[in-house]
Amino acid sequence: MMIIGVECTAHTFGVGIATSEGKVLANARDSYTSLTGGMILNEVAEHHVRVAEEVLKKAFSEAKLSWDKVDFVAYSAGPGMDPALWAGYKIAKRWAFDNGKKLIGVNHCAAHLSIGVVWNMLNDPCYLYVSGVNTQIIVKEKGKYIVIGETQNIGLGNLLDKFGRVLGLGFPAGHKIEELAKKGRYIVLPYSVKGMDVSFSGILTKVEQLYSQGKVSKEDLCFSLQETCFAMCTEVVERALAHTGKKELLLVGGVGANKRFCQMLEIMCRERGAVFYKVPMELAGDQGAMIAWEGFLRGDESGDIQVKPHWRVDEV
Ligand code: ATP
Ligand code: FE2
Repeated sequence: MMIIGVECTAHTFGVGIATSEGKVLANARDSYTSLTGGMILNEVAEHHVRVAEEVLKKAFSEAKLSWDKVDFVAYSAGPGMDPALWAGYKIAKRWAFDNGKKLIGVNHCAAHLSIGVVWNMLNDPCYLYVSGVNTQIIVKEKGKYIVIGETQNIGLGNLLDKFGRVLGLGFPAGHKIEELAKKGRYIVLPYSVKGMDVSFSGILTKVEQLYSQGKVSKEDLCFSLQETCFAMCTEVVERALAHTGKKELLLVGGVGANKRFCQMLEIMCRERGAVFYKVPMELAGDQGAMIAWEGFLRGDESGDIQVKPHWRVDEV
């Protein structure tokens, strides 16, 4: 079985093709970027409409396939930005209709988790999902996802992107902050862990203040921001592993591309006899292959569900 997955929740428009064995045959994408920083909602939706056919063509050529071999079309129904979701939904619906395929709406967050599980051939890990909007520690119980810890305000990727905007790094900024951090030294920043939750908004205010006062270098701020926020997440995840007794940690989401973050989590896991897993770079951020695979898993229970901008993973 071959499934096409359409990703459209935020800045990336992606078309992936996966098989029912979880093999990724294609993962084409085109991401909206902006030099001034931030995402302008309508520009993102316009971007998706503009690039859709080209990205689909690329996916088919990567996979050496055409519509006749495709069984159904999965799309990201949410959570995400309203205009981007509608743009993606309409494109996926048109492709499904024109080619006589079933349409299946899936949860974008669940897709991040599922692709990590199939890639690593895991059974029942503890998940750390860290992207732009989301920072969540998740486990599965009786087939349902449960969020056992999360950010109380902004996601870690958003924190990095917002600070990147202040530094004039453009959008997205996570990888540029990672580069600057390599030359930085540590200064103390507010460390904000509240039970199983974390809070990033106070740290953002603090680094913005320090930067505007001109007393601390960009590099030192980036390094210290990373060290502090990654340590907060690592602490909470360690507690999650201790509470649940799980022996596998799976890191997913765009911030998972950060090498220092992976290193911290890996050390923590090793020290407590657990195993750390991540996904390769091309499956870490937003892309269509994960939507295709999640579509396969949900094929029987889902269908055309329009868009759900606020659909949490624990509501799946
Ligand atoms: P979601 O809808 O799942 O919340 P998203 O749309 O924000 O996801 P992702 O692609 O999962 O998209 O994650 C994007 C985030 O990852 C951005 O905030 C970006 O700055 C961050 N990021 C990318 N590379 C790195 C890196 N090397 N270090 C830190 N952060 C990174
Ligand atoms: Fe995402």
